[in-house]
Amino acid sequence: MATDVLVFDTTLRDGEQAPGFSLRVPEKLALARRLEALGVDIIEAGFPIASVDDAESVRRIAQEVQGPTIAALARCTPADIECAGKAIAPARKGRIHTFIATSDLHLERKLRISREQCLETAARAVAQARQFTDDVQFSAEDATRSDMPYLTSVIEAVIAAGATTINLPDTVGYSTPDEIRDYFQAIIAAVRGSEKVIFSTHCHDDLGLAVANSIAALHGGARQVECTINGIGERAGNAALEELVMITRVRADRAPFTMRIEARELFGVSQLLTELTGEAVQANKAIVGRNAFAHESGIHQDGMLKDRRTYEIMSPDSVGVPKTTLVLGKHSGRHAVAQKCEALGYAFSKRELDQVYRQMIALADTQKHVSDEELAAIAAQVKAEY
Ligand code: KIV
Ligand code: ZN
Repeated sequence: MATDVLVFDTTLRDGEQAPGFSLRVPEKLALARRLEALGVDIIEAGFPIASVDDAESVRRIAQEVQGPTIAALARCTPADIECAGKAIAPARKGRIHTFIATSDLHLERKLRISREQCLETAARAVAQARQFTDDVQFSAEDATRSDMPYLTSVIEAVIAAGATTINLPDTVGYSTPDEIRDYFQAIIAAVRGSEKVIFSTHCHDDLGLAVANSIAALHGGARQVECTINGIGERAGNAALEELVMITRVRADRAPFTMRIEARELFGVSQLLTELTGEAVQANKAIVGRNAFAHESGIHQDGMLKDRRTYEIMSPDSVGVPKTTLVLGKHSGRHAVAQKCEALGYAFSKRELDQVYRQMIALADTQKHVSDEELAAIAAQVKAEY
């Protein structure tokens, strides 16, 4: 039996915090509409106290995007919470997401407060947030490097103050999958009142483990996963939404979690994000990268032409990518050349095809790949010669 999991998208907050990814109000609105079509449960629309523009984008999204819950981030300070509360006021379903660091490193070196002060500040902030909405999320920043008994006491205090979701971020991407699964299991078992709240996972990708850690946290009992489109976010980024979704679709046997996501929208929203930020995704990025459904080597192209399941574990169509591409390059074989020539309207004898193939390889040796136009020129020349 699969377990339902809430998808909390933070592209417009944690994602937008990354250098080079800042967005203006109309761009954030356009993305929020696409996230709604994608089916995310919660959109974290911004950090209202950070700037007038951020506050305005949260307010406009809250006003105009009515399907998902709209969340606004706030530190555990009265001014932040008031600002977030005002920004989400127009939402049909609004959430205040308040956070404070709980690791000794952050308390001593960054916040310069004691554990007791931190606990009191957190509980007070949650109680204040409840005056604006009955949907309050508390995050213990740097949770995975926090002392577990102390963190347990903070979580119990914020639950008593009215928190409904408890997020335990792996803020610096330090955890490993087996560790974070055990960690969620242990915290959920230790916290009194844990059955009253939803536990959430928020993983960063500093060691390239954000997605693996998020799935492991779900195995450990988390029921909300925080992620971003294309995995954008602070430093190396957050867990990539498209990867999480497709793991649960392609490997439902090992990751039996149901997310209410329309997977065919994945490529479109990824493209819109790159267009609006001007930041391309890496070519080999899983699911949405330019090469995710492209094949160049002869052995792979031959397999693909016989049965696509030889080298594709999901269809491009299932994630909204228009089609598989067989790219012609120096590693390509005769099968792909023949198929491309046929698509271009050429029927060749074996000898002619051999000639086309040799010329294509000679050209490919001098450049990255051979385009359809270049192949058509070679094909026309060979036809004329024979
Ligand atoms: O990574 C983190 O700890 C965060 C919190 C603000 C939730 O982004
Ligand atoms: Zn984060």
